[in-house]
Amino acid sequence: MSGAGKVVCVTGGSGYIASWLVKLLLQRGYTVNASVLDLNDPRQTKHLLSLDGAKERLHLFKADLMEDGAFDALIHGCEGVFHTACPVSVSSTEEEVVGPAVEGTLNVLRSCVKFACVKRVVITSSIVTVKCNEKPLSPDMVVDETWFSDPAFFKEMKLWYVVAKTLAEGAAWKFAKDNGIDLVTLHPGLVTGPFLQPTLNLTVQYVLDLVTGVEPSLPPFSEFVDVRDVAHAHIQAFEVPSASGRYLIVGEVKNIYDVLKNLKQHCYPSLSLPEKWESDKPHQVSKMKAEALGVSFIPLGVSLRDTIESLKEKGFLNI
Ligand SMILES: NC(=O)c1ccc[n+]([C@@H]2O[C@H](COP(=O)([O-])OP(=O)(O)OC[C@H]3O[C@@H](n4cnc5c(N)ncnc54)[C@H](OP(=O)(O)O)[C@@H]3O)[C@@H](O)[C@H]2O)c1
Repeated sequence: MSGAGKVVCVTGGSGYIASWLVKLLLQRGYTVNASVLDLNDPRQTKHLLSLDGAKERLHLFKADLMEDGAFDALIHGCEGVFHTACPVSVSSTEEEVVGPAVEGTLNVLRSCVKFACVKRVVITSSIVTVKCNEKPLSPDMVVDETWFSDPAFFKEMKLWYVVAKTLAEGAAWKFAKDNGIDLVTLHPGLVTGPFLQPTLNLTVQYVLDLVTGVEPSLPPFSEFVDVRDVAHAHIQAFEVPSASGRYLIVGEVKNIYDVLKNLKQHCYPSLSLPEKWESDKPHQVSKMKAEALGVSFIPLGVSLRDTIESLKEKGFLNI
């Protein structure tokens, strides 16, 4: 097992992506220090503590991004730090998201420089720090890791999540350069797939809305990726010595409606889908760097089927 004898840290350990990451890290033999906001809330801890290997090798800590030095205790003794924690909401105010994203990331990085044992830091950034600027995306365009979003444009539109993630990524790269940190940033698209935590995160809620006829909070047309691939990409980003810079983690660019319609026809006739949304021919997103890192992608149809099965199993969907 590649992780045997190694200690790593995951911030925001109870989240959708982080829970899968903790699961895969434990499977690979790592000892994992994971942060949650409330150690006394079983919704944040129970699903993690019941993972294989958790009893022996998972340590939970309480840490808030806005508390200076809160991550010292988790990061002490770690070779790798996976920073995933961030408020994720499309309706966040500036105060709710920009501080935790930007100051929170710097808070975690400041803890990393205190301990010489930290060899690499992997940050869960987003496709929104890459593709969001004034120029509309057309089918002939291939978004790749050289693209950067323009936070000023999105500030005017008050899309604070986009602003926060973009500023946080910029601040992280500057801090890493100034302080000699080996940093890798991952930029997933909209994440779907089965969930381990007992509550609904934003993007699983989005799928639930789509299949129950509720007006969804996000557009139908997007860059998608399965949560298991995102978690695996984090591990590759840490384990592959030559990993460096930014990585787009996107499996498919599609209108999700077309995929759900197909699932309704073949597997779930009682799904209540909204009217079809029209969308233009999609732009493309480069997978070259991710694939070179050893990341492969579960098809969106499989990911959505597994999301639906997970929603059924946990009692959120009765079909
Ligand atoms: N899901 C996607 O489609 C997607 C796509 C691209 C990038 N990402 C990025 O992936 C990361 C994880 O997202 P997710 O989808 O897994 O969402 P999630 O389930 O909501 O996870 C976010 C985690 O961050 C924690 N958190 C929030 N505010 C915090 C604070 N002030 N201090 C400490 N922890 C805090 C949350 O704790 P509580 O739950 O207790 O509040 C939760 O554990 C985020 O950085 C997000 O920007 C997500």
